[in-house]
Amino acid sequence: MNEEKWTDRFCSLYGAGGDIRSYFAPGRVNLIGEHTDYNGGHVFPCALTLGTYGVARKRKDRKLRFYSVNFSNMGVIESSLDDLEYNRRNGWTNYLKGVFWAFGQKGYHIDHGFDILISGNIPNGSGLSSSASVEVLMAVCLRDMYGFDMDMVELALICQFSENVYNRVNCGIMDQFSIAMGKADNAIFLDTSDLSYQYAPIRLDNAELVIACSNKKRGLNDSKYNERRNECDTSLMELKKILEIDSLGELTNEAFEEVKEIITDPVRLKRVRHAVSENQRTLEAFDALNKGDIVRFGQLMNASHISLRDDYEVTGKELDTLVEAAWDQPGVLGSRMTGAGFGGCTVSIVQSDCVESFMKNVKERYYQAIGYHADFYPVHIGDAARRIG
Ligand code: GLA
Repeated sequence: MNEEKWTDRFCSLYGAGGDIRSYFAPGRVNLIGEHTDYNGGHVFPCALTLGTYGVARKRKDRKLRFYSVNFSNMGVIESSLDDLEYNRRNGWTNYLKGVFWAFGQKGYHIDHGFDILISGNIPNGSGLSSSASVEVLMAVCLRDMYGFDMDMVELALICQFSENVYNRVNCGIMDQFSIAMGKADNAIFLDTSDLSYQYAPIRLDNAELVIACSNKKRGLNDSKYNERRNECDTSLMELKKILEIDSLGELTNEAFEEVKEIITDPVRLKRVRHAVSENQRTLEAFDALNKGDIVRFGQLMNASHISLRDDYEVTGKELDTLVEAAWDQPGVLGSRMTGAGFGGCTVSIVQSDCVESFMKNVKERYYQAIGYHADFYPVHIGDAARRIG
């Protein structure tokens, strides 16, 4: 994709002239540390070179006009700065409207409407954060157009606020943070309890990151995401009766074993075991990577999937089929679901000379078990959201 093409398309849709600017925001893949970001734990995501392109121009009035190349059947959707109510019928534009709304709530005054075109190559609902990508894209555009003095961490937090309050998905900070702060060839080791972070170079030598998309759609809103989050919050309240902790991320596996009886419900006990053990795995994975031990890193990815399958119960038949087929292939160092789960994608580390056979064999096995195809994407780790033209 190239930005000129989208600028041309913008001009034929809305007319040429004026200060037309273009932006890019990546998608993200999380290597390990799943469902830990709202539990004060660690995550280890990276930004992708796949993402969302946007072209925008300020208007003189207060109208907002949105067009997505991916949803061209919906045509141009109109709104206004005076009508920023969430509206289900306006589909994807709620992610953009939410960002306008959130900027206002946080004291960043927007007084001009916009014409906007976006086009993305992240598969929708795939668990690679197409929605956070669109939000951060809009925020980077507003920050740039108005010259707001706002760092990228604050920008990520505003996007998360928009998603939590406006779109009513109680997500953590991982997606918006990794998209706003990503760095080519690096993953971000982020402590979600205080947002301290380190970049970690991903050197896979003769191996590659391969994403497999199950093509089972996942809507965070409709999913069990908020339910899992509530289960963790309730359990934390129970644990607080006997422990001085602010989050599950403060517990080691051993500390958890000592106090687990206080959690009265067996299902919630499993949820907490995942939150605690996944955080510990993420710490160990970061360590392994620093020592160049990709084999151990891969084993921890596999263990992460098992915990998400058995304790957190967010995988489902499609993701389990993809991962179990991956584990059986030669040259696979590790494979797990990535993102919220309940459909979406898996991420695998595969030796370069085995990638072709990996994709072919897993695709076949998936089709036999599930009855429709999965899509495969060898991916690269890219930079954060930014202005590109
Ligand atoms: C979604 C959320 C993130 C995170 C993951 C699970 O992607 O947006 O905040 O909780 O699920 O790790």
